[in-house]
Amino acid sequence: MSKSKRIKIIDLLKSESYDSTVVVKGWIRNKRVSKNVAFLAVNDGSTVNNLQIVINDPNDELTSKCSVGSSIACVGKWVKSQGDKQAGELIAENLEVTGFADPEIYPLQPKKHSLEFLREIAHLRFRTNIFGAVFRIRHSMAYAIHKFFNDKGFFYINTPIITASDCEGAGEMFHVTTMDLLNLPKDEFGAIDYSQDFFGKETSLTVSGQLEGELAALALSEIYTFGPTFRAENSNTTRHLAEFWMIEPEMAFYDINDNMDLAEEMLKYVVKYALDNCLDDLKFLNDRLINEEKDKPQNERSPMTLIEKLEFVLANDFARITYTEAVDILKNSNHNKKKKFKYPVDSWGIDLQSEHERYLVEHHFKKPVILTDYPKEIKAFYMKQNDDGKTVRAMDILVPQIGEIIGGSEREADYDKLLTRMREMGIPEKEMYWYLDTRKFGTVEHSGFGLGFERLILFVTGMSNIRDVIAFPRTPGNAEF
Ligand code: 4AD
Ligand code: MG
Repeated sequence: MSKSKRIKIIDLLKSESYDSTVVVKGWIRNKRVSKNVAFLAVNDGSTVNNLQIVINDPNDELTSKCSVGSSIACVGKWVKSQGDKQAGELIAENLEVTGFADPEIYPLQPKKHSLEFLREIAHLRFRTNIFGAVFRIRHSMAYAIHKFFNDKGFFYINTPIITASDCEGAGEMFHVTTMDLLNLPKDEFGAIDYSQDFFGKETSLTVSGQLEGELAALALSEIYTFGPTFRAENSNTTRHLAEFWMIEPEMAFYDINDNMDLAEEMLKYVVKYALDNCLDDLKFLNDRLINEEKDKPQNERSPMTLIEKLEFVLANDFARITYTEAVDILKNSNHNKKKKFKYPVDSWGIDLQSEHERYLVEHHFKKPVILTDYPKEIKAFYMKQNDDGKTVRAMDILVPQIGEIIGGSEREADYDKLLTRMREMGIPEKEMYWYLDTRKFGTVEHSGFGLGFERLILFVTGMSNIRDVIAFPRTPGNAEF
């Protein structure tokens, strides 16, 4: 095997240096054999497009070793292709099977596998076109988010993963302990004595980096976090994970309107980044969805293709309405009157379900919607209270097919109001002295939001199950791989 440097398939496919000799390495995705010639479709993960390798006069041993899934290294001549399917192809001069995959037992054959089946073999599903596309796009979206904030002068802060505070106050935390579960130390009241635990107090995995993010923003002005978050909520839906990644910008001197502007600008920026930089993968996912839709009845097909949807989001302002207006729209909708919602909308104060969010976005406004000013009872303690005494300066961004993709708010900057709300909601004020301190020492108006990274990837790829946009999903009953 020649020692010259390997070229990635994405670069080779673009190359016009025909008749040069190159080295390619990758995995066989497909093979066709006839009497005098064999064709291999080879992929190295750099692109959704396969390289065609031509083996002239193949012998039986080599062709049988070139099974689907095997890894190969090939020295060959890059030539202009005869057919019109691809620009060039590689004529093998020296081909070596470096890792054989036994076709009798290799689970991935070149045919359509269901996403459910691929989830069971998540250690191998990267080797399919669809997951290659999803994970290349996921990478690009992470990069685009860092670039967006960096270019605006935001600072990336890493907030702790192990924490003693429950930011959202929903009590959905995973405990972190080194204590012997069969022999827990108890205090005089019979409660677990966490003072004997590793950190000397009760700790959990974080549900959000926001509270610590606020501390940084109240000195650095504009920061963001991008890290893993954990929620022990037992919701087995296509939009919930127990371990997911969240981007949380936090900005001093921003009110709720500045916050909405930033969130809309960021979403449009990353969608544009995907269209500009991931078009091969998006086209692949787009065509796949068009094919899937063919099996659906006409009225269930989506009115736009994936790429049209992304372009539409770029071209239009998001609708901005209050929770109160949203409840009115929902209450008076024919959908509600005909009792088509599983959860009927009858009164102000209800928490909106995903079916309500999707109705607003997909049927009423037909574009992304930002809902603000929710009832304080259904939102977290840290949100700025409005003068009406009933609502808080929350903002949720809702998008088609998913519902909520972003949740955020202006923060309560007034020490007394914050303390009162914490007491009302049973948030331990002593332990949270550090959070209250920011309102005591030089408090300022500030805001922030959280973007669920996997929900963003669902939106950009058009995938329908959140388990298919994170490499190794953690959901109730599943922590495989
Ligand atoms: O609305 P949430 O709970 O807001 C917060 O955590 C705030 N502390 C954010 C902030 O203001 N800094 O979560 C934010 C987003 C949701 O809109 C959703 O996209 C995503 O995180 N999310 C989940 N994604 C996957 N699985 C789950 N279980 C999720 N829970 C929330
Ligand atoms: Mg939320």
